[in-house]
Amino acid sequence: MGKQGFVSHKKPSLLFLLLLLFEATDVGGAARLNHWESGIRLPSEKDDQELGTRWAVLVAGSSGFGNYRHQADVCHAYQLLRKGGLKEENIIVFMQDDIAMNELNPRPGIIINHPQGDDVYAGVPKDYTGENVTAANLYAVLLGNTSALSGGSGKVVDSKPDDRIFIYYSDHGGPGVLGMPNMPFLYAMDFLDVLKKKHAAGSYREMVIYVEACESGSIFEGIMPNDLNIYVTTASNAQESSWGTYCPEMDPPPPPEFLTCLGDLYSVAWMEDSETHNLKRETVEQQYETVRKRTSNFDAYATGGSHVMEYGNTSIKAEKLYLYQGFDPATINFPPNEVNHNPRMEAINQRDADILFLWHMYKNSEDGSKKKEILTQITETMRHRIHLDGSIDLLGTILYGPAKGSAVLNAIREPGLPLVDDWHCLKSTVRLFETHCGSLTQYGMKHMRAFANICNSGVPRSLLEEACVAACGGHDPRRWHPSNHGYSA
Ligand SMILES: *[C@@H]1O[C@H](CO)[C@@H](O)[C@H](O)[C@H]1NC(C)=O
Ligand SMILES: *[C@@H]1O[C@H](CO)[C@@H](O)[C@H](O)[C@H]1NC(C)=O
Ligand SMILES: *[C@@H]1O[C@H](CO)[C@@H](O)[C@H](O)[C@H]1NC(C)=O
Repeated sequence: MGKQGFVSHKKPSLLFLLLLLFEATDVGGAARLNHWESGIRLPSEKDDQELGTRWAVLVAGSSGFGNYRHQADVCHAYQLLRKGGLKEENIIVFMQDDIAMNELNPRPGIIINHPQGDDVYAGVPKDYTGENVTAANLYAVLLGNTSALSGGSGKVVDSKPDDRIFIYYSDHGGPGVLGMPNMPFLYAMDFLDVLKKKHAAGSYREMVIYVEACESGSIFEGIMPNDLNIYVTTASNAQESSWGTYCPEMDPPPPPEFLTCLGDLYSVAWMEDSETHNLKRETVEQQYETVRKRTSNFDAYATGGSHVMEYGNTSIKAEKLYLYQGFDPATINFPPNEVNHNPRMEAINQRDADILFLWHMYKNSEDGSKKKEILTQITETMRHRIHLDGSIDLLGTILYGPAKGSAVLNAIREPGLPLVDDWHCLKSTVRLFETHCGSLTQYGMKHMRAFANICNSGVPRSLLEEACVAACGGHDPRRWHPSNHGYSA
């Protein structure tokens, strides 16, 4: 990438001239020792930083109009990176693509990610859409292994040793897992194995990963090494929800015709920060700090805010954001980092957002039979959730006794320890549960900690099977039988 942004700028402001001066004095700065630690943050845009290609992988892991916000986030990120100069051939998008043309979309063909926002859908490439949005394809794309792909555009991260990679994921999640619109879920250890393989292949220089999902910290907690040249931030810690925002009847609300949330708290925080700052001067760390404050929603953790976490190699934080997200010449006069005075945003727990959507649909529907249909959908969804919660409780009681059951299943390990010691056990426990009790669904991801703790306590498989049969025997999961959509593990 050249410095075309500087050269082609027509009306040099004072700030711009100052910047040039800084640039000039920074020549030869490469010999400076440890200038990051010294706290002096000159805008060093040395040419060696510019070598290589910027790659991005954007993933929306959900489907359905009630989850509008995740695909809106990802489309928005695509537009932002394109404005930053990343090439389409270097940005790989995973999204179900069932929103823009959805019959429920009040603005057909358009997706917005902010109440007053412009369309973010136009031009987004359909690399991996529909049935092709799978964890296996994501792994193949990251590893640049075209022969491991099944469907899709065939675009992969064909990166070289000097390249930088930015990964952004927005979806539902649970302890140790991230959602995918097509089963199975992404499991933390599988994802980590892919990152390790990519590192071993020596095919990138550095990587920055942003993840928005419930319990997203658990994807990295205790398993993310710091020697992979990867820096990660997550929307939440290992044991809390992340939050949807711009939701109907909340403040700030979407335009009145939208019955679904437009964005997610952490996601809009980083993107709105990137759009209002000069990314040649803002560091990854400055964005982390801003996003952390905004996502905490002024420390309103219980009612709509979460703890942004960081993992991996934190030295990467000292780098400028444009190395990952590019630089939009229109932002040249923007500050490197000025905290926007963002108001507190009302937010909804990711797991309640789909019910909220159905409920607004129900309330707004005037057609009698349609109304009844939605009501049935709400009650069936709630019943299945109650069934899942109850079955887990029963498992706890059967395995550990009534006094200890829930304490064992809900136990949270100390920070720094992984969710589970044996990830294969976690998967096989999930499959066993789903066989007898029905699909976990997006909502049931929250019970992953219970399965992890069952594994950590070393319950023999025969005993576990007996407990699943006892807890769910005779239950007819109907549309939630795993044969319909596949096992989540
Ligand atoms: C690519 O994927 C194929 C199919 O899964 C696998 O056999 C092969 O070993 C992979 N190649 C590399 C370089 O990992
Ligand atoms: C999945 O990928 C295949 C192969 O590229 C393509 O033919 C198919 O249309 C894709 N499916 C969807 C839903 O996009
Ligand atoms: C972390 O990243 C920095 C900057 O790229 C690098 O110098 C350092 O060796 C890395 N640390 C580890 C443990 O790999």
